[in-house]
Amino acid sequence: MKPETALIHHGYVAPQDFRSPQIAVHKASSVFFPNVAALRDRNWLDKTGYTYGLHGTPTTFTLEERLCQLEGAKHAVLLPSGLAALAQVNLALLKSGDEILIPDNAYAPLKSLAEVELARWGISHQYYDPMHTESLAQAIGPQTRLVWLEVPGSVTLEFPDLPALLRICQSHGVLTALDNTWGAGVAFAPFHVFPQAQAPLRGVDVSVHALTKYPSGGGDVLMGSVTTCRDDLARTLKLSHMRLGFGVGANDAELVLRSLPTMDMRYKAQDASCREVAAWCLQQSVFAQVLHPAIATSPGHAHWRDLCADGQADSSVVHRGGSAASLLGLRFHARLSPSQIDGFCNRLKLFKLGFSWAGPISLVVPYDLKTMRQMAEPAMLEGGYVRLSIGLENPEDLTADLAQALAALH
Ligand SMILES: Cc1ncc(COP(=O)(O)O)c(C=O)c1O
Repeated sequence: MKPETALIHHGYVAPQDFRSPQIAVHKASSVFFPNVAALRDRNWLDKTGYTYGLHGTPTTFTLEERLCQLEGAKHAVLLPSGLAALAQVNLALLKSGDEILIPDNAYAPLKSLAEVELARWGISHQYYDPMHTESLAQAIGPQTRLVWLEVPGSVTLEFPDLPALLRICQSHGVLTALDNTWGAGVAFAPFHVFPQAQAPLRGVDVSVHALTKYPSGGGDVLMGSVTTCRDDLARTLKLSHMRLGFGVGANDAELVLRSLPTMDMRYKAQDASCREVAAWCLQQSVFAQVLHPAIATSPGHAHWRDLCADGQADSSVVHRGGSAASLLGLRFHARLSPSQIDGFCNRLKLFKLGFSWAGPISLVVPYDLKTMRQMAEPAMLEGGYVRLSIGLENPEDLTADLAQALAALH
């Protein structure tokens, strides 16, 4: 055998008895079968064996298992981004003629997906106001197959009555899919009966998680997951996932696995800092409203308390218990012009201008809500709006940064 062939046929086998808790990066396109019969007997769906790198390696299977543990699910598939995971649910579970319902304050690319891609395939959509349960009840019709839920709303963080929305969907026999990126498996259990519900209630049918956010935590990986407890949906999701050729690289999966052990601590630390920044912002007269589910005046605060803070009462300006992630919305008084608000964003030093959230670096994005929302309360659309994502910096440094950027407004 020539040296170049020997470098390829090197006889390496993965070590069986290397006892380390760190997950190895198992990369593969080809996975070898011992004989023709085994190759012919392969079962793509059987996660106890390996068939082809696209369909999983020990690294990606381990990540799927951990995500099931995190969210209380039975099955998971991994996708190359959170948005791909949202798309995958629609692709797998819908057919031409079906209708989906989307909250008006949903993650905007989900709305674009419905408006352009799904529409081309004959799948229609309607928006509903998640803060008014009757809006959902009225929108559900004979063609409605799937209702999207997001808790809280993207950007504006209104917290809906999730058990009430689920109850409506379940009474009509329609599927539910939750974007659980904010809750991240930490704030509440999406698949379990909600403790505050008066009567037993099933959780959601499907949960989508942008692993890009808290599970990755580094701001350096893009990945998404779809999880479910339902065997029938899992089969459909997995088959569609395979037919469409979705998969993730083992290096990225390992990065997420490496970050998972610290996720709960990071989530809680960023949550605590965010509440500190929120409390500071509440004292600044330039803001007409500070939106954060743990603030009593933020829309849906009572629903947040029921779901994420065990219904506890707390008279603090920013509620101290429960989980509330690390996003914060700031609505400026209408007297400030859009260019003044852009100037405020430009002057920030620690807060970087950029999309995404839940990484170590705090971020700021100005939004024009008037172009994004059809059903918002009119007051919500008054004045400019900025969303902050709080990172792992010291919150005193963050409020100092906000203070210096605000000072120039006066
Ligand atoms: C609520 C929510 N869902 C899904 C996504 C999509 O995740 P990704 O950036 O991995 O596509 C995002 C991204 O910002 C998000 O905020």
